[in-house]
Amino acid sequence: MPADDSKPQDAVDAIDLLMQDHRTVESLFEEFSATDDKRKQRRIAHRICAELHVHAQIEEKILYPEAKAEVDEATGMINEGIVEHEAIKRLVREIPKLSATDEFFEPKLKVLKEFVEHHVKEEESETFPRLRDSGLDLRDVGERLAERKRRLAARAGLD
Ligand SMILES: [Fe+2]
Ligand SMILES: [Fe+2]
Repeated sequence: MPADDSKPQDAVDAIDLLMQDHRTVESLFEEFSATDDKRKQRRIAHRICAELHVHAQIEEKILYPEAKAEVDEATGMINEGIVEHEAIKRLVREIPKLSATDEFFEPKLKVLKEFVEHHVKEEESETFPRLRDSGLDLRDVGERLAERKRRLAARAGLD
């Protein structure tokens, strides 16, 4: 049997998977902005933080090291991404501890949204196209991202 048959036909592409995550978080931020209901805002904020926690983990543990090892020229942009993740992760840890009536709840969400928008723009306009053009096996990386994501998502209480 050819080796390729051991991989599922619908194996996910790493970049498609990560961009789908970006769209999920964008639509959650839109839902957040569309409501004044504090309970709903808190529920959406928790979801945003859980999604970002899982997404940052799979990028940092799988995609980024793989990309740095395989694509020398991507190292600078990936290290910049890691620094941006640090700022995002600090807010992701803080926000779930706040009541939705806390005076810093909405400002922190607003700043988180700005940080995420900036970071996503850089990934999608610079890092991902560079990786797409490289010899990186995006199907193989995609399978590993999907597998790790399933485990982390279950632990974070995501569907
Ligand atoms: Fe990302
Ligand atoms: Fe990222």
